[in-house]
Amino acid sequence: MILLSFFNLQGLNLLRLATASPLIRGNDTDRQALLQFKAKITGDPLKIMESWNSSIHFYQWIGVTCCRKHRRVTKLKLRILKLSGPLSPYIGNLSFLRELGLVGNSFYNQIPQEMGGLRRLEALHLANNSIGGEIPSNLSACSKLSSVNMMGNRLIGEIPASLGLLSNLKVLGFVHNSLRGSIPPSLGNLSSLEKLGLTYNAFSGIIPESFGRLRNLSVFAIFGNAISGIVPIVLLLEH
Ligand SMILES: *[C@@H]1O[C@H](CO)[C@@H](O)[C@H](O)[C@H]1NC(C)=O
Ligand SMILES: *[C@@H]1O[C@H](CO)[C@@H](O)[C@H](O)[C@H]1NC(C)=O
Ligand SMILES: *[C@@H]1O[C@H](CO)[C@@H](O)[C@H](O)[C@H]1NC(C)=O
Ligand SMILES: *[C@@H]1O[C@H](CO)[C@@H](O)[C@H](O)[C@H]1NC(C)=O
Ligand SMILES: *[C@@H]1O[C@H](CO)[C@@H](O)[C@H](O)[C@H]1NC(C)=O
Ligand SMILES: *[C@@H]1O[C@H](CO)[C@@H](O)[C@H](O)[C@H]1NC(C)=O
Repeated sequence: MILLSFFNLQGLNLLRLATASPLIRGNDTDRQALLQFKAKITGDPLKIMESWNSSIHFYQWIGVTCCRKHRRVTKLKLRILKLSGPLSPYIGNLSFLRELGLVGNSFYNQIPQEMGGLRRLEALHLANNSIGGEIPSNLSACSKLSSVNMMGNRLIGEIPASLGLLSNLKVLGFVHNSLRGSIPPSLGNLSSLEKLGLTYNAFSGIIPESFGRLRNLSVFAIFGNAISGIVPIVLLLEH
């Protein structure tokens, strides 16, 4: 009996949604941001983005997940779909976004600074694309970030010291890029960090002494760089 009324309620909600669908367009800022993201895509041999059309609500578009309550975009995941194009700065307007996963495509150009506006972002997975330019220092404003993987791209420049502010970060991966310079000592402030992958770049200098404070670090890969000197004694003792 209780179960039945539960289903009735759900049915009612669905009916209301369906009949009111021309009005429930969802948040227009999100909609605009998604359309701008699509507009930048120059290659889509699998015709994935054709599902991103106005005959259905954007929460039904391939790769888009919305929260039930507000129909705001919480995840944008398009993995290994042969998509190419630059990343639109409009992504920075998806203010409810928790996960951006574009692994294994051919996205290029830079990571937009505007992404610093994504205050709820927890996962940024851009591995195996052709993304170049520098890592935006603005990412440090995404204070909820816990997993960042940008392996297998064309990132240049140095790791911004500001990334040391991301106190929730557990995974940070920059393997196989063209990053250089010294490793910022501020990364030693990432007290939640468990995995740090920096192999196959052009880093130089030494491993900062501050890394001895990374008590949760269980994977630290640094080979394939021009790092000299010794591993901080604390790292050796702790792990
Ligand atoms: C859509 O989202 C933006 C940014 O979060 C907000 O400013 C705006 O008020 C929202 N609009 C509606 C209709 O909810
Ligand atoms: C719009 O998307 C739906 C769902 O993927 C698809 O069936 C339909 O063919 C698309 N319409 C156009 C005009 O591409
Ligand atoms: C979204 O982002 C773009 C580019 O970053 C900006 O020009 C635009 O004004 C923003 N706001 C809305 C509501 O789309
Ligand atoms: C970096 O982010 C701040 C706010 O977080 C913003 O004011 C600034 O315009 C951003 N920089 C660029 C180049 O977009
Ligand atoms: C990126 O590609 C490499 C080589 O094909 C693969 O080993 C790795 O697992 C990929 N990374 C991710 C995060 O998918
Ligand atoms: C982060 O680390 C740097 C260098 O190790 C240090 O100077 C700075 O005070 C630290 N900042 C915070 C907020 O802990």
